[in-house]
This record gives sequence, C-alpha cells and structure tokens, in this order.
Amino acid sequence: MAVVVPGVTLSSCDLTMPVIGMGTSSSPPVAPETTKAAIIEAIKAGYRHFDTAFAYRTEQPLGEAIAEALRLGLIKSRDELFITSKLWSSFAEKDLIVPSIRMSLRNLQLDYIDLYLIHWPLKLSQEVRQMPVIREHIFPLDIKSVWEAMEECKSLGLTKAIGVSNFSCKKLEELLSTAKIPPAVNQVEMNPLWQQKKLREFCKARGIHVSAFSPLGANNTKWGDNRILECDVLGEIAKAQGKTTAQISLRWLYEQGVSSIAKSFNNERMKQNLDIFDWSLTEEESNKISQLPQRKGITFESILGPHDLALELDAESLDDC
Ligand code: A2P
Repeated sequence: MAVVVPGVTLSSCDLTMPVIGMGTSSSPPVAPETTKAAIIEAIKAGYRHFDTAFAYRTEQPLGEAIAEALRLGLIKSRDELFITSKLWSSFAEKDLIVPSIRMSLRNLQLDYIDLYLIHWPLKLSQEVRQMPVIREHIFPLDIKSVWEAMEECKSLGLTKAIGVSNFSCKKLEELLSTAKIPPAVNQVEMNPLWQQKKLREFCKARGIHVSAFSPLGANNTKWGDNRILECDVLGEIAKAQGKTTAQISLRWLYEQGVSSIAKSFNNERMKQNLDIFDWSLTEEESNKISQLPQRKGITFESILGPHDLALELDAESLDDC
C-alpha cells in the first residue's frame, strides 16, 4: 500500500504541499534513465512531491517520469503531484525570468509548476559552466526586480506559488520590504545538526514555510557527508525507537513543522523515508536533539570560491542559526 503523505498549506496561495518531497539532484550526476526510473518507483511508493531545478538537469527525466506515470495509470492527473523547480542564478535577471520558467516547463512537459524558487540569493554570469567561479562572474542579486518577475510568473499562471531558497533573514527582510506577494517557502539546508532556530522563527512569524534540503546530510555527495547517518545521539534514539537514523532525522524535522526534501533512488530507503508518520519522538529525545552541536554542511564559499559575496552570504546564514 502506498503511503499517504500529510500536507502543509502554504500561505498566500492556498496550496497544499506534501511534507516529504523526493529530491532529484545526484552528485555525481546519474543517467537520466536512472532518475526517471527512481521517480516512477517513488510515485508507486506514495511520493507526490518532487523537487528539481534547472541546474540539476533533472527537469527532463522528471517530466518523462510524470508522463509515464500518467500512461501507466499510477496517477490520474498531473494535479495529483506537487512539482518544485528553481530559477538558476545565471538567469536571475528581470527579463530572463519568465523565459526561464517557460524553459523549465518545456523540460518538464508541464503547463504549470506548483512552486518556483529563486535558487540562490546571488546572480551569476551566463558564461558560468562550472564551479568554483571567478570573481568577475558573481554579482549581488537585484532582489526587487527579480522578485517582481517571479510575481509575474505567478500572475501568468506559470507557477502556483513562488518562493526562495538559501535566503537568510537579512535577504528575506529585503525581499519583504518591496514584495507584493510574500514568498510561500524558503528552502534551506536543515537537519538536526543545522537547526536554524532563528531563521525558522523569523519565517514562522511571517507565514513563510521552511523546507529542508539535505535532511540526511546529503551523504555520498560532493558537498555532504555521513555526519547525520553516523551521529551517535541520533543512532541511540533510532535504536530505542526501533527506527533508522534517517527516520529519526526526518521525524524530528516533521515535528518542527518543516517539510523535507529527502533524496533516495533506492526502493527500500525511499519507502523507509516515508514511514515516519505513525510514531513520535519522546520529549526527552527531542531535548537531546535540540542540544546537538551545530555545523553547517554546505557553504557558498565551498561551492563558488572564497569571493567576498560568497563569504558575506555565509556569514549571514551563520547569524541565523
Ligand atoms: P540513496 O539514494 O542511495 O538512498 P539528503 O536527502 O540529505 O540529500 O541525503 C541523500 C543521501 O542519503 C543519498 O546518498 C541517499 O542515498 C542517502 N539516503 C537516503 N535515504 C537514506 C536512508 N533511509 N538511509 C541511509 N541513506 C539514505
């Protein structure tokens, strides 16, 4: 039996988003057929929320998987799915944004995206092909004009909701000072070892839903490691609960009111990651988790290079912990 994943209602758009989404980014990248096959298995297991981005190069296999799921009758209509994609930083310029979402829609073979996010709070030159980048290729984001174009994407019906990713409280404040439509979501790195209490409180007070990427520490990727899956405290709680460490992390995030984008292309693990809704952590276990020492896994400096803007963005998010 496929699991029914609970949803969270996003403010300012009357849209329900399943609280566990399947991430589609693999590092190193995998063949498109592998991504497509994993997504079809995920739909069979009960996943209805998929997270992609222009930069991941997984919009096309996701689109093919959706078309195949419809052909196979795994879903009756595209509306049963919640699809998130992201504006790549090389197109983070007013006039390029509507064309960018149209390109993502072509890749996905869809008429609309459910949620379109600004991927990073910075702009990159269109010449960028790989990371790290040279200093001349990285610029501050013109938040006001970029957000106006994101609002246009929503009013044109190309996306049902708009939001941001990797935004600090400071960047959100700047955005909110001119936004006509507030962001529905801020997708950020979050897990028991990077809890972001200040950012969560800031977002909660403003009706912005926080969604967690790297909820399992992005093990086996270029930017992640096994710090969550090998964490002793989480491991002890897992043993006591008869669950896995991954499930403890996902359950903790769920109990914080946060949704998670958990990536697994393995059939057993993707099912395991949905099996977090009919049990709970004890108060003592939650207290232990809240006291874990904090460490951010991914920084702009590590991806882009030690440029002033990358260091400034990293310092802002350290302030939000
Ligand atoms: P795999 O795709 O082989 O399952 P994150 O969601 O934090 O980005 O982490 C993704 C990484 O964690 C992937 O390497 C994924 O590998 C692995 N992973 C996903 N679910 C589990 C799980 N339940 N137990 C162990 N590893 C997992």
